[in-house]
Order: sequence, then structure tokens, then C-alpha cells
Amino acid sequence: MKKLEIEGGRKLQGSIRISGAKNAALPALAATLLTDEPMVLERIPAVADLKTMEGLLQSLGAELESEGERRTIVTREIGTAEAPYELVKTMRASSLVLGPLVARTGRARVSVPGGCAIGARPINLHLAGLEKLGATVRQEAGYIEALAPLGLQGATVAFQRITVTGTEDLMMAATLAKGETILENAAREPEVVDLAAMLNAMGARIEGAGQSTIRIQGVERLHGATHRIIADRIEAGTFLIAAALTGGELTLEDVNPEHLGAVIAKLRQAGAEVEVLNGTAIRVSRQGEIRPVDVTTEEHPGFPTDMQAQWMALMTAASGDSHVVETIFENRFMHVAELTRMGAEIELAGNCATIRGGKRLSGATVMASDLRASACLVLAALAAEGTTVIDRVYHLDRGYERLEEKLAGVGAAVRRID
Ligand code: EPZ
Repeated sequence: MKKLEIEGGRKLQGSIRISGAKNAALPALAATLLTDEPMVLERIPAVADLKTMEGLLQSLGAELESEGERRTIVTREIGTAEAPYELVKTMRASSLVLGPLVARTGRARVSVPGGCAIGARPINLHLAGLEKLGATVRQEAGYIEALAPLGLQGATVAFQRITVTGTEDLMMAATLAKGETILENAAREPEVVDLAAMLNAMGARIEGAGQSTIRIQGVERLHGATHRIIADRIEAGTFLIAAALTGGELTLEDVNPEHLGAVIAKLRQAGAEVEVLNGTAIRVSRQGEIRPVDVTTEEHPGFPTDMQAQWMALMTAASGDSHVVETIFENRFMHVAELTRMGAEIELAGNCATIRGGKRLSGATVMASDLRASACLVLAALAAEGTTVIDRVYHLDRGYERLEEKLAGVGAAVRRID
């Protein structure tokens, strides 16, 4: 069923357990290709993108067993080291198998990931990095082929711009390269740190993950390990905003507050009460007005681009005007047109949006365009006057596990309809 129907105006009350992070689980699944021994991954959320990645691994020769949130994966040998178009076109993070395939087999053939709604999203920096490690890379008939028949050679890779999956791809490739690799201007996201922890548990030698310079000493081979995926900071951030927007009180369990520093700081500025309860829970509520607070997206530890659309939903209810500047992707304002259908007043000038606050949105029929835009529309609907129907919620299912169940569990009037 591909629509959500939401009756706005309910305060959310209660607690929600946060799922494992989609953007940590995707590279973790790809990393299992680096060894022929069994790997166990815990806290894998049931979201569509991970099902796609699991299918891709199986097409490459992996045997995969699912038991709740646990995956047991072993790739004794890799058959075709090829990620076909029909899989890659549905999930561009398939480029994460590039590094592991070249490192393990000396060859990778991956369909060029098309752009997506939020931008062109090339992977030129992934390819330039693999070439620095000695791979020859060529593109033909919509496929990228990377070859390193004699294995990869450690080198210094300085990224022209910070790329999260580019850092992850190269970190995985470098684990089996000969000698030392240094990644400069590397992404510092928690998901990069989580991947490095998993690779080190497999016998890799990685230092500095989470900082701008990461050092990797290549090793002969990696062995099996068990790894528990970190909590999804973007899912958690989405629920923090849901509570602030509806004026309720939510406690989020099994989350790492340290991964949400920028979002928590902005929510406090906007007037929400955010309490960090020990290392794994956050309580959020909002009594007074929502104050207008400007946000500019930045790479971690800055305000995450994956929270930009959700923040805009909150700012439509603020007591004055605010500005949102998107610096990471060139087309990540698709949610604006849909918020406007609900009565929001938002002006766009290049990568800057000005949100006029001070009025309550009204329910409407709207359409999701990409993963985080659909989360934004859910949030807006929770606070709007009347009923909202959101179409094309398969976008939401790519990155949120059972969102409507979790919301209904804390008092939202939401149901899935055809
Ligand atoms: C990751 O995408 C996340 N996805 C995205 O989350 C997130 O928005 C993004 O990082 C930024 O934080 C996963 O981790 C699976 P980038 P990624 O490479 O790695 C440009 C979500 O909603 N660039 O850091 O693809 C690129 O076009 C998704 O969960 C190049 O030009 O993003 C973008 O403008 C959406 N060449 C910027 O860099 C390259 O080779 C940052 O992209 C690579 C990137």
C-alpha cells in the first residue's frame, strides 16, 4: 500500500526504540565481501534499501540468512563481480561494492549509478581514489569497470570534497592493499567510524576514523567477525522534531546522543527541552512557542543535510521567519512545493529557503519525492489541521522501518492506505 493518511493535531507521548542505521548497515553489508569467512551483523533494520543490498550480495555469490535483525553472511567465492543496472538503478549506494570487489577479486563491474531526485551524485571521487590505489578504471555501455589484477597498492588519497560513501569505499579497498593508505579530507560521519570498527574487528588496521585523516595499513586477509550496527541518528532526529512540532513528549531509546550534537543544539535554540538520559536515551518535549532558527547544512559534525527537510517542517510552525541553506546537494528542496500545498509560505533563492513562520498548515494530498522529503511531509501532517494523504510512500520505506507503527504507538493518527 503506497499512501499514508494522517490526522493532524495529536501530541505525541511515549517512547520509541530507534532502529539500526541504514547508512551504517549499507557499507557494513558491502564489507562482508572482503572475507570468505562468516560474518554476523546485528540490528539490521527492515528497510527497502538494505533488502536491495542483500539481493546484490547474493547475486555476487553471498549466502545470507536472516533472523529478525540479525544477518549471517558468507561469501566463500565471488561469482560475477558485477552489480547489474536493474539493481543499481534502484539504489545508488550499490557503488559501495566497488572497493570490496576490487580488493577481494581484482575486478569490479558496477552499473553507473544514475542521479537521483536530490542531485547528480557522481562517483568520480570514488573512481579517482581507486586509480590512486593502482586500479585501472574505465567506463563503457553504462558500466564502470575497475581492474587491479596484481592487487591494490597503498597510496595517499586526498578527496577534492568530502564524500561519505567515497570515504567508505576507499577505506574498504585499502584494508587489503599492499602498504599504507592515507585518506585526507575524509568524511567524519559516525557511520564511517562504525564501518572502521567493524573492519578492525575483521583484522583490518585502521586509525583515525572520525577525523579528517584516516590511516589504513593493508593486511593479507580479513577474517569473520560479529558487528552491531549503530543507531540511526537521522531516524532519531526525525522523531525529535516530531515531538517538538506536536508539543508532546517522547523518549528515544537505544540511541547515541553524541551523534546528534548539532541537531540537539538547534532544537534547544528553537525552544524544545532536550534531555540526554545516560548514554543511550534522549527525552524531548516542547511547551512554549517554537522560535525561528536558521540552519546551514554541513558535513558531520555540522547540521546534517539528511535532517534539512525535517527541520523545514518544524520551521513552518515557528513564531517568525527562518532561513535554511543546503550546501551538500544541488536539488534538495523538492519538499518545498508539497509543503506549500499545505499552506506553508517558503521562498527559494538558489540554495537558500526562507520560511515564513506563524501559521498552522492544513492537511492536503501531497506526494513524496525522495526519502527525507517524505519524512518532512509526515512531520508536517502530524501538526497540520485536518487530514493529509501522502502518496508514493515507497520513498519513505527506503529508509524508515515501520514508521507509521512507531508513530501510532505514541499517539499519532496514521494509517497506511491504498
Ligand atoms: C551519503 O550519501 C548518505 N547515503 C546520504 O544519505 C547523505 O545525504 C550523504 O552521504 C551526505 O551526508 C549513504 O550513506 C548511503 P556524498 P553519499 O558522497 O555518500 C558530491 C539518505 O537520505 N560527490 O557525501 O552519496 C555529491 O554529489 C541519503 O539517507 C561528488 O561530486 O554522499 C554531493 O553533492 C541521501 N563526487 C556531495 O559530494 C563523488 O564521487 C556529498 O556526497 C561523490 C560525491
